[in-house]
Amino acid sequence: MGLRPVDVDAADNPEASMLPKRIPMSRLSLVERPRRLRRTDALRRMAREAILTPADLVQPFFIVDGKGVREPIASMPGQHRLSIDLLIEEVKVLRSLGVPGIALFPKIDDAKKTPGGEEAWNDDGLAPRALRALKDACPEVMVIGDIALDPFTSTGQDGLTEDTSWPGMKDTTPEIVNDPTVAALVKQALCEARAGVDVVAPSDMMDGRIGAIRQALDEAGFERVCILSYAAKYASAFYGPFRDALDSAPRGGLDKKTYQMNPANRREALREVRLDIAEGADMVMVKPALPYLDVVAAVRDAVDVPVAAYHVSGEYAMLKAAAANGWLDGDRCMLESLLSIKRAGADVILTYAAREVAAKL
Ligand code: PBG
Repeated sequence: MGLRPVDVDAADNPEASMLPKRIPMSRLSLVERPRRLRRTDALRRMAREAILTPADLVQPFFIVDGKGVREPIASMPGQHRLSIDLLIEEVKVLRSLGVPGIALFPKIDDAKKTPGGEEAWNDDGLAPRALRALKDACPEVMVIGDIALDPFTSTGQDGLTEDTSWPGMKDTTPEIVNDPTVAALVKQALCEARAGVDVVAPSDMMDGRIGAIRQALDEAGFERVCILSYAAKYASAFYGPFRDALDSAPRGGLDKKTYQMNPANRREALREVRLDIAEGADMVMVKPALPYLDVVAAVRDAVDVPVAAYHVSGEYAMLKAAAANGWLDGDRCMLESLLSIKRAGADVILTYAAREVAAKL
């Protein structure tokens, strides 16, 4: 593209009088000038490719036993552990802001935690009670129930730990065992279905759990219950504040790397997603969100089911911390983060900021 020099002093140049004298300049002869579409707010809105709306958001909640309980979570400013009565108040506010759904995470007393996590399928447990109360008070809210054993196991693991020995091995080693865990997750999913859950969301990363849960739900007459699979869930350090909130950090030396994915892997995410959809997942999730936007985009391209992304506790906490220090404009950075997750291809965003963001949109 050639340059067309502009003589600022030339009498026949109508713009010359508007230009400062003696500043040498030239005009680019450009066919495309992308800035034209950014000149006014109306043009920018017209040319906008992605839009964030309250309907895209899901608010996760931490729940506790009791009445009138509202315990702040230190590492997640603005978030609380709520008793069921206050949860219902919050959900009504969310509905009025246009947020269609919530995700529930129960904080279980240490006394109820066992190696086998049996409390996970107690029909009188905290999560099923919360579900029934919610469905009574606000039947139209969509509730996503977490399927994983970590709030219930004394080990803090999403699965069952067994001392395992393999042929040729002298000693036993503790392992998170896949197939017995899947049997337990099936019981938990059925328990939540009986309590009225709309969507079960297995966040445990065991192999084969989607197919097993789908089959069990169907056999029990719960064909209408959806499955949102945490299909590509990474072994991430960004879950730290969540584990504070539930006091669910792994205890006893084992980490979660034998089931959650290696942050180095992207192709493997596509494999997990393919398997979960083949087994019957209605939706698939990538988690965390911002550090894994390439994975969100790749999954969006690869599948035709809705894609969710979980803007996790650590992503929320770091923005809140920077904002509290005056280092970032917290509100604008939050909106930009969530819009970016949407742009990358997520149809649904789980975020602790759902309420505050919906109030601003
Ligand atoms: C556990 C679970 C975790 C989160 C959701 N479900 C933590 C973990 O895997 O250790 C993390 C969510 C967040 O950090 O906001 N099943």
